Amino acid sequence: MYKTTEQIRQTFLNFFKSQNHIIYPSSSLIIDNDPTLLFTNAGMNQFKNIFLGLKTIKDKNIASIQHCLRTGGKHNDLENVGYTPRHHTFFEMLGNFSFGSYLKKKSIIYAWKLLTSKKWFNIDPNKLLVTIYEDDIESYQIWKNIIKLSNNQIIFIKNKNNIKYTSENFWKMEKYGPCGPCTEIFYDYGKNIPGSIPGSKKDIGNRFLEIWNIVFIQYHKLPKKKFIKLKSPSVDTGMGLERIASVLQNVQSNYDIDIFYKIIQGIKKKFNLSNTKNNKSLQVISDHIRSSSYIIANNVFPSNEHRGYVLRKIIRRAIRHGRSIGLKKCFFYKIVPILIKSMKNANHLLIRYKNKIQKILKIEELQFSETLNKGLKILKEEIKNLKNNVLDSNIVFYLYDTLGFPIDLTKDFCKEKNIQIDLNKLNKKIKNQKIINVKKKYKNTNKISMFVNNKTNFIGYNFYKTKTIIKKIYINDKSVNKIDKQSTGQIILESTPFYGQSGGQIGDSGIIKSENGIFEVYNTTKNGNIIIHHGKIYSGTINKNTLVKAIIDIKKRKLIEKNHTATHLLHAGLKKVLGKNILQKGSLVNEKKIRFDYTYFKNLNFKKIKKIEKTVNKYIQKNIKVKNFITTFKNAKQKKYIFLENKIYQNNVRIISINSISNELCSGTHVYKTGEIILFKIINENSISFGTRRIEAVTYKKAFKEIYKKEKKLNIIKKLIQPKNSNLIKKIQNILKIQQKLIKNNKNIEEKLLILSMKTISKKYIKINNHYIFFHILYNEQQSYIFKIIDYLQKKFQSSIIILINISKKIYLKIKISKKLSKIIQANTLILKILKKISGKGGGNIYFSEGIINSSLSIKKIISKCKKLVLSKIQNKIKKL
Ligand code: SER
Repeated sequence: MYKTTEQIRQTFLNFFKSQNHIIYPSSSLIIDNDPTLLFTNAGMNQFKNIFLGLKTIKDKNIASIQHCLRTGGKHNDLENVGYTPRHHTFFEMLGNFSFGSYLKKKSIIYAWKLLTSKKWFNIDPNKLLVTIYEDDIESYQIWKNIIKLSNNQIIFIKNKNNIKYTSENFWKMEKYGPCGPCTEIFYDYGKNIPGSIPGSKKDIGNRFLEIWNIVFIQYHKLPKKKFIKLKSPSVDTGMGLERIASVLQNVQSNYDIDIFYKIIQGIKKKFNLSNTKNNKSLQVISDHIRSSSYIIANNVFPSNEHRGYVLRKIIRRAIRHGRSIGLKKCFFYKIVPILIKSMKNANHLLIRYKNKIQKILKIEELQFSETLNKGLKILKEEIKNLKNNVLDSNIVFYLYDTLGFPIDLTKDFCKEKNIQIDLNKLNKKIKNQKIINVKKKYKNTNKISMFVNNKTNFIGYNFYKTKTIIKKIYINDKSVNKIDKQSTGQIILESTPFYGQSGGQIGDSGIIKSENGIFEVYNTTKNGNIIIHHGKIYSGTINKNTLVKAIIDIKKRKLIEKNHTATHLLHAGLKKVLGKNILQKGSLVNEKKIRFDYTYFKNLNFKKIKKIEKTVNKYIQKNIKVKNFITTFKNAKQKKYIFLENKIYQNNVRIISINSISNELCSGTHVYKTGEIILFKIINENSISFGTRRIEAVTYKKAFKEIYKKEKKLNIIKKLIQPKNSNLIKKIQNILKIQQKLIKNNKNIEEKLLILSMKTISKKYIKINNHYIFFHILYNEQQSYIFKIIDYLQKKFQSSIIILINISKKIYLKIKISKKLSKIIQANTLILKILKKISGKGGGNIYFSEGIINSSLSIKKIISKCKKLVLSKIQNKIKKL
């Protein structure tokens, strides 16, 4: 009966091929056009519209092995993973489907044959039992009369509280969508394993394992508990690969099947964890490396929303468990090769995206490590001091709110240690916090946000000035009728040529002028669809509801436009030189420069930077017309126009199009032709965090200035160095060579001098019996040399007191006392006594101390006082030694 998971995959597919099924590949984990679904959660997802009769398909009998994730929505197993032998975030589902071809009888016979026939899985039929939806008599008769199950092998599962279609044996894809009654096949591990029979009120133990679910899709569930009967009922079956493998490999936990055995053993070996008993954490890590790797392979990256957030939660949970078994360094990404090996023939995606997966996992762990370590330290401390078994929700909230330590990690940590959290209290705190945050957010724009349903008519794409009407004036957040006396405030106009800061482009400045006054606009922002002009009265008065002229600072705007178009060209250039996968992380476009952040994992050498710069300048020289048009977001996505992953776009979006070079969603203002930019120059390129790099660049006159500046510097260097035959580089290389030689020589001389001075010093001492006392003054001596002198003297004179005074900017004192003499006087006591007498600060231990002397006395006096004091303290005692 034993079969490896790879053999099970093959046997399953061979069986259904032999029954005239067409094999379909697994669909992606992300079904793009289904907003009801976060991730693919069942084999039938890719056929949803066929089940609902919205689409037809030529193949009526299909089988597949589908990658599934159950980490969000109706089917969410994340919190259970690690704590039960059966739950996973990622798993493979073996399934067969019939679209109006066969129904109950054939689907049940197929399942039974594959499971029990000697040729196939060869499971003992007496070890199987089935559940049926409460009034599915037809399925009952098939199990009873055709398959010949005994009555105690067939269990009816009732609806909950007599409400129709609420039974466990009525399967629903999500909140809405295809659904229907199902019959499930269970494997009985035998009396020795505790466990309640399927359908029991309390679901305890692991004796009975659901291995196959055969769903008869008959309804379409709509909102408001509405069920529509489908014209053509179909069959959707699903068998978790990991579960059937646990049966065929005769193990009681999915985590003991070959795939997980390999991952867990691989982790243990790689990280020297042979003695680790904490299996839960190893299970969590081995499960989560699968889900997170497959999610990333499907182009989802960690973020704070939607799918990216689920991914982030999974990765962070795995890292937390890693820390709990002693994996302190960035470890998670290192498991990817182990995972790839374990998945055998099902690993193509992982192989293809291995580098990307590893990079993303590494960045996420690096970024999260500090928060995690701080949070765990606090949690451990708090839990050590717990009086009862309940963790104060204030602590959980503090961790979350102040440190950014995720609540689900605290929950998981507590679950592992059987510690409770007062969830009600915690939820109240979170709710209050949200309200406070919203209030804070709108504190300064309270009045303006009331106006938010209105819209300022932006005409700044085509005009730099306009006549318009003052709609609102605000001073200190209060709506007022006029503004005068050089007051600062905000103005809202009916129409405006002023661009409100957004999409990286800064706001315009300029003036708003009426018959009676001038308002100087120094910034423009946006709040919803309202454009707000921030500024100050320059002269006179501006009144509400009056006619004004709004004029932007054209010079500044034109510079911004050059920089904005150049930013798009830079983005395109980066994709061309570094590869399509670079992603924009942020940008700033003002009249002075461009700042552009993007994902890239390697350093850029000079050649690459120049190649990017050259590419952008080529685009500029082509003098291409910059077009703009409106299209739907859907269309923009289909056409693969560039947009920001984590920004929410309206249905209609504006595209800035520069031939085929760049098509980007953007609301900013741009030049008419790329040639207007004249020149593009990168002035800075560096990494700002792991995997994110920043380019700063300038255009037009500033770019020329940059070149002149460099030329000027070069000229100065030339003048200073005056190369013969003007071979500047050779001359500099020569100078550097000479310099290195001189440094070396100098070091040699210094060392010789040091030895000399050590020898001299070692000859001047006060000797009492066999004990030596040194008092010496040094001038401007380096620390390292002072220590060398001390070492030298110590080695030569084993019973000694060494007192050195180094005179540089300040007067430094160092005392070293040998072990023997430390019995009668200690370095730290002695320095305090000296400094008390001649004033200063210092400290140390019994053998070594140092301090700074802060005294107006002459050096001679200082030394003589030191001498006197030291000798008076030791003279008598030393003789007795
Ligand atoms: N859709 C059903 C399930 O996921 C059978 O594949 O259980």
